[in-house]
Amino acid sequence: MALPVVRIADIAQYENQDVELRGWLYSRRSSGKLHFLQLRDGSGIIQAVVFKGDVSPELFTQADHLGQETSLLVRGTVRKDARSPLGFELGVKDLQVVHAADGYPITPKEHGVAYLMENRHLWLRSTRQNVILRVRATVVKAIRDFFDNDGFTLVDAPIFTPAACEGTSTLFEVPYFDLGQAYLTQSGQLYMEAAAMALGKAYCFGPTFRAEKSKTRRHLTEFWMVEPEVAYMTLEEDMVLAERLVSSVVQRVLEKHGAELKGVLERDTSKLEAVKAPFPRITYSEAIERLQKAGHPAQWGDDFGGDEETVLANQFDRPVIVHRYPTDLKAFYFKRDPANPKVALGMDVLAPEGYGEIIGGGQREDDLATLEARIEEHHLPKEAFGWYLDLRRYGSVPHAGFGLGVERTVGWLCGLHHVRETIPFARMMERITP
Ligand code: 4AD
Ligand code: MG
Repeated sequence: MALPVVRIADIAQYENQDVELRGWLYSRRSSGKLHFLQLRDGSGIIQAVVFKGDVSPELFTQADHLGQETSLLVRGTVRKDARSPLGFELGVKDLQVVHAADGYPITPKEHGVAYLMENRHLWLRSTRQNVILRVRATVVKAIRDFFDNDGFTLVDAPIFTPAACEGTSTLFEVPYFDLGQAYLTQSGQLYMEAAAMALGKAYCFGPTFRAEKSKTRRHLTEFWMVEPEVAYMTLEEDMVLAERLVSSVVQRVLEKHGAELKGVLERDTSKLEAVKAPFPRITYSEAIERLQKAGHPAQWGDDFGGDEETVLANQFDRPVIVHRYPTDLKAFYFKRDPANPKVALGMDVLAPEGYGEIIGGGQREDDLATLEARIEEHHLPKEAFGWYLDLRRYGSVPHAGFGLGVERTVGWLCGLHHVRETIPFARMMERITP
């Protein structure tokens, strides 16, 4: 009789029943008459206990010689087991090797990160990476749900683009037939501005590319960003949208993964529980004062790097919003503050605990002549922005939006040292494999 094929995550529904599990051998140990196989199937890990008295002598010997990551079908009875983190174990009656693995490169001993990154295609099978991948998926889903339930329409931005959005220094060039040079998108924002004028509230969510020569723990050359854009929205309302989004993503991750964050990733989740709107807001000028008071040599006009962001963020128990940065530090599209044109109507959300900027955004310049002048000042090719300027020619309105980086957000929520573990296959200056 065929047994029900069950995923380990659903095992509780099968107490005292015979089932078939399909997975891989994570690890094993033996003590005389018993072999303990840790079987993983992607949804969880269960201890499968092979008792000498329950199986044939051949099978009992075979179970003691299985290589790590051997793929297996295991059949047996689901038993309650208070000592196991899962709450259940499997009393094995039969097992069948699908493919015998030998010499798996990632053993339970400690490996260096460089080695693990080189074996990323296999490293993904580890318990830690499994949790991180699933937290990432939850973050993506929570973001989508937030916008879909808030009147936004998903609008996909192109990845091949004719011009820079975030400054020309970090563009990846791609030869594009007879049309010359195209670039991989740095941000879908300019297209979302067009979409916001069409739909009122729009967002894009996809990969973006930066040829940044930064080897920091926060930089990837390919990362995922969600970018909402809203017509008739001001900077102040933009900040409210950002804090609502972040709080809702954090809540969802805590609900779904709180136990794994604590148990597997050793994340102090009490720090995440504090993340509720409203977030504190400080101007850039106040930020400079705070840095100076903290003994940091920052001067008005300096851009913030990881160090400055960490000093500031450490002064708060939840993300802090820094707004009104110097115009000179910001991209051409930012609207200047009418009350003080030296500063731009932009904001960054800095995550706590040194995870740095997770959101950047603000209100856009909506006046045609001013925007034309900004494009010139920034030495950008005016031809490429013809369509973008049309948005200021026909029914221009105040509008704002932002971009949230998925990897930095996942890194913060999981408490990871480096963003390379937050994306399945990281792309960095010095890595393009596997
Ligand atoms: O601050 P950024 O550059 O803003 C924009 O691109 C705007 N056009 C977004 C908008 O207003 N629609 O990037 C936004 C976020 C950052 O806060 C950070 O979380 C992430 O994108 N980010 C990176 N993440 C990983 N690696 C990199 N190299 C990143 N650069 C930016
Ligand atoms: Mg930024």
